[in-house]
Formats: sequence, structure tokens, C-alpha cells
Amino acid sequence: MGRVLAKAESAVPHNDEFELTEKDFKFIQWFMHKNVGIFFSDRKRTMVYGRISRQLRRLGLRRFRQYRQLIEQDSEEQANFINCLTTNKTQFFREYHHFEYLEKVLIPDWQASQVSHPQIWSAGCSTGEEPYSLVSSLYWAKSFDRFENVSITATDLDTKVLASAKRGVYSEDALNTIPAKYLKPCFVRGTGNQQGYIKCKAGLQRLIDFRQLNLLEKWDFERQFDLISCRNVMIYFDKNTQERLIKRFYEQLKPGGALFIGHSESVPPSLGLFHHLGHTIYIKK
Ligand SMILES: C[S@@+](CC[C@H](N)C(=O)[O-])C[C@H]1O[C@@H](n2cnc3c(N)ncnc32)[C@H](O)[C@@H]1O
Repeated sequence: MGRVLAKAESAVPHNDEFELTEKDFKFIQWFMHKNVGIFFSDRKRTMVYGRISRQLRRLGLRRFRQYRQLIEQDSEEQANFINCLTTNKTQFFREYHHFEYLEKVLIPDWQASQVSHPQIWSAGCSTGEEPYSLVSSLYWAKSFDRFENVSITATDLDTKVLASAKRGVYSEDALNTIPAKYLKPCFVRGTGNQQGYIKCKAGLQRLIDFRQLNLLEKWDFERQFDLISCRNVMIYFDKNTQERLIKRFYEQLKPGGALFIGHSESVPPSLGLFHHLGHTIYIKK
């Protein structure tokens, strides 16, 4: 027994710069699953170690145990800890078929069914490329002439990516993923000390309401949405958390509302809540 415990408590190979014991890793798995919904399997240990190491180095600590004490006492450090473990990969117009569907089907449908104020939610918006793509797509499809008002809510749990989403300044490399037709009408290139950067036009940027929101916690929206885009977020959650979230999205959509999810995610047909149109596009039954 003593030997088993000694093994469980042992650190990762002793030549590692920082100590992360088996018990520490179990705490990280438990904490992230309970508070964020993300489950790190044992195979993710090296990735977790790498990300946590940067935090320990910043704080001049040697052991995760010391960092854990900080996380438990200091909410700002707790946010840094969560931020460093979330995966924020995104790009403009990622999974372009969703934007085509919005322009060619949803917007004409909303207009035909007398929707005057379409409401859109980008849930898990990361650094903002998704909501800026949505607003550009709406502009391209002349939504702002067709509807009295359009509102886009963009949320993420990670405070750091959200701050950068609000700033909305991107390296010109992003131009590689923005189809040419949106460039001139929706984006501006920086000049002077902003050379090499692009930004969505201010008139479009101000239509997006960025807010911090943990999808696992209570949502206090007073309205339902015509479209919820929650792409490449649920992939990190376990099956129960995914299903609970899908049921909550169902409740938060207007009748006939659309749900976009990521290419490797799906809504189980057994839930009986959505019609699947293919291409990860779902319509509320
Ligand atoms: C891979 S990014 C996806 C960004 C964008 N939707 C896309 O498809 O390009 C996943 C985002 O989900 C956010 N996220 C993870 N767990 C979350 C939670 N419990 N509540 C809210 N956002 C969460 C992460 O912070 C991250 O920015």
C-alpha cells in the first residue's frame, strides 16, 4: 500500500523543471471538468504540463502544489489557470458553409417570416474571428438594410481571449482566410504604427456585444436567439455535458432557430430536438 501511494505521489520524471505529481494532475482533471466542462484524459498530461509550466515560471514557483494554493485563494490567478488550459484555435470564416447558409437561407427566411430583429449568439467566440465573420456575412447579405436591427452576442469563458476579441486587431496574415468579397466592405488595414494589422470596420464592430460567460453556469439572457453558433467548443466536453448543453441551446432558440456546431461535433438524433440539415447545421423542431 505504502508503495502504491508513493508511486501515486511521485512527480513526473525528476529532470523536469517543475513538479506535477499524479495527485496534482488528478486535481487539474477534477477542477477543469467541474468548473469548465473540459475533461483532460491521461494522454493530455504532457500538454497540461507544458501549459502549467509557463504559469509556474512566470510566478517563480517550483511545484504545482504551491500554484494550487494560489489558485484556491486568488480569483485572478484562478482565471489565469483556466485561460492557460483552454484551447482557443480559431480563424475568420472557419467552416465557410455556415456563412453561406446564413447568407443564402437564414437571412431570406427571417425576412420572409417577418423577423425584424434577428438575434445571434456566438458561444465560445475565442479571439473574435467568428463574430467578426458573422457580422461581415450579415453586412454582405445586406441585413442592415433589411432588418430594423440585428444583434450579435459573443461570449467566451476565457478573459484573455475575450479582451483580444474586444480589441479586434489582427495580423494581416488573417487576410489569407477572409474571402476577398468581404475585405473592402468590412475590414480596414492599419497605417503608421498599425501597419501590418487589420480590423473590422468600427460600424460593424460596435454591433457585437462581447461578454464573459461560462457555458456551464447560469445564462441570464432575456431573449431567445434565431441562430446559435457554438463551434469547436463541445468537442472538449464529455458526453453528458454536451447533451446538457444541447438541451439548453434548444431552450434558448426561437422555434425554427438554427444551431451551428463544429465539424467534429454532432447532436445525437436520440434527443429528438433538432432536424439535421447536414454540414453540422441543425434546426430546432
Ligand atoms: C477552439 S475555440 C473555438 C472558437 C470558435 N468558435 C471557432 O470555431 O473557431 C473554443 C473556445 O471555447 C471556449 N470555452 C471552453 N470551455 C468553455 C466554457 N465552459 N464556457 C465558455 N467558453 C468555453 C474556450 O475558451 C475557447 O475560446
